[in-house]
Amino acid sequence: MSKCNQNLLSLYVHWPYCESKCPYCDFNSHVNEKVNVNDWIQSYKNQLFAMKEELIKNSINFRQLNTIFFGGGTPSLMPLEIVESIIDLSKEIFGFKKDIEITLEANPSSYESKKFIKFKQMGINRVSIGVQSLNNNYLQFLGRLHNIKDIKFALNDASEIFENISVDLIYAFYGQKIHDWTKELESFLNTYNLQHISLYQLTIEEGTKFFKDHKNGIIKLIDNDKAAEFYDISNKILSDFRFIKYEVSNYAKLGFKCKHNLNYWNSENWIGVGPGAYGRLWSLNKNKDRIEYQNYKNPKTWLSKNLLQTEFEKIIKLNSNVSDIDTLTMGLRLYEGLEISKINNLSIINFKSLKELQKQNILSFKNDILKVNKKHMIKLNSILNYLTSN
Ligand SMILES: C[S@@+](CC[C@H](N)C(=O)[O-])C[C@H]1O[C@@H](n2cnc3c(N)ncnc32)[C@H](O)[C@@H]1O
Ligand code: SF4
Repeated sequence: MSKCNQNLLSLYVHWPYCESKCPYCDFNSHVNEKVNVNDWIQSYKNQLFAMKEELIKNSINFRQLNTIFFGGGTPSLMPLEIVESIIDLSKEIFGFKKDIEITLEANPSSYESKKFIKFKQMGINRVSIGVQSLNNNYLQFLGRLHNIKDIKFALNDASEIFENISVDLIYAFYGQKIHDWTKELESFLNTYNLQHISLYQLTIEEGTKFFKDHKNGIIKLIDNDKAAEFYDISNKILSDFRFIKYEVSNYAKLGFKCKHNLNYWNSENWIGVGPGAYGRLWSLNKNKDRIEYQNYKNPKTWLSKNLLQTEFEKIIKLNSNVSDIDTLTMGLRLYEGLEISKINNLSIINFKSLKELQKQNILSFKNDILKVNKKHMIKLNSILNYLTSN
C-alpha cells in the first residue's frame, strides 16, 4: 500500500495546440486549428465528472484540489471561456484548497497583456513562460517564434500581473561557450524578478525533426563532461541569486517550489483531462492499487470520444513492481530524497549496488530517506539503472 498523502489532489489540463511545432519537441502538440469552443468545454466537463465518479468508485473521498496545471501545447492560446469553465467547474466539483496553485504555461510569441489580466481574474496565480533561450541565435536554432525583445515584454508585463513567475530555459548546446552562457544567465537574473526556473539541457527525442538532424550529423550534442560543467556552473549562479535547487532541473526562491510537480514527484493522486493527459490515483479499495487513466492522444479522437460521455483510451492497474519503480524514479529526482517506506516491495532495489553507491558517496540512506548526492544528480538515470539492476 502506498503512503500517499490523501489530502493532496492535483488536476492536469492538457491543451494540445501551438502556433508552430518546435523541431525538438515530442510533447502532444499540434499546430493550432480552429476549435469549437462549446465542444471543447463539453468534453473537458464530461471528463471532470467522469473523474469524480472514479474517485467515488475507488473510495477516495472528495479532496479539495491543491493544484491545477494548464500544460501543453500552448495553453495560453486557449480561448478564455474554456479556461474559465474548467476552473469554475472543477471548483464546483472538487472544491479548492485555500492556497490552491493554478499554473498556466505561456509562450512569449503570443503573449497578450489583456488576456493575462483576464487569466488572473479567473484564478490563475502562477505562469510558466517558455523563454527557452537568452540568445537570439539559439532561439532561432530552436525554431522559436519569439526573440529577446518579446521575452522582455512578456516578462515585464507578466510581473506586473503575477507574483509567481516561472521560466523554462534550454542550455548547454553544442558550440555554446560556458562564458557566454554564464554572462547571459547572470544578466537575465539581474534583470527580472522571477520566482522559479526550470533549466533543461537539450535532449533529442524520437520522432522530432532534431532526431533526424542528429542522426544525419546536422545536430551535435555536447559530451557528458561538458554537460556536467554547464550544470555545475548554472547551479552555482542560481544559488548566488537565492534560487534553491529542489529537483534535478528545478530551482525556486523560498516558498515558490512548484506544488503541482511536487505532487507528481511524490507519487500523489492526480487527475488528467484533455488529449493525451493521464491521471493516477491510489485506490482505497481492497487491493490499494495504483490506477492510471490514459486519454486518447489525438485531439480530434479525444474530442469525439468525450463529447457525449467520457471514454478513456485505457484504464490500467499498474502492477506493484511498475508502480514501485515509478515511485523510486520520481522520488529520487527530489533533493530531499525519497521516504523508502513509500516503496511496497524493496526487492526492486539491489542492496549490493546501494552499498556501493553509498561507499562512493553517490547515494545516502539515513533515517528512512534515500537521497542522491547533489553533485551526482546529473547522472540520475545511470544511478537508477545500477540501483535497480539484478
Ligand atoms: C510542454 S513544454 C512547454 C510549453 C510551451 N509551449 C513552451 O514551449 O514554452 C515544457 C518544457 O519542456 C522543455 N523541453 C521540451 N522539449 C525539450 C527537449 N527536447 N530538450 C530539452 N527541453 C525540452 C522546454 O523547456 C519546454 O518549455
Ligand atoms: S511551443 Fe512548446 S509545446 Fe509547442 S511545439 Fe514548441 S516546445 Fe512543444
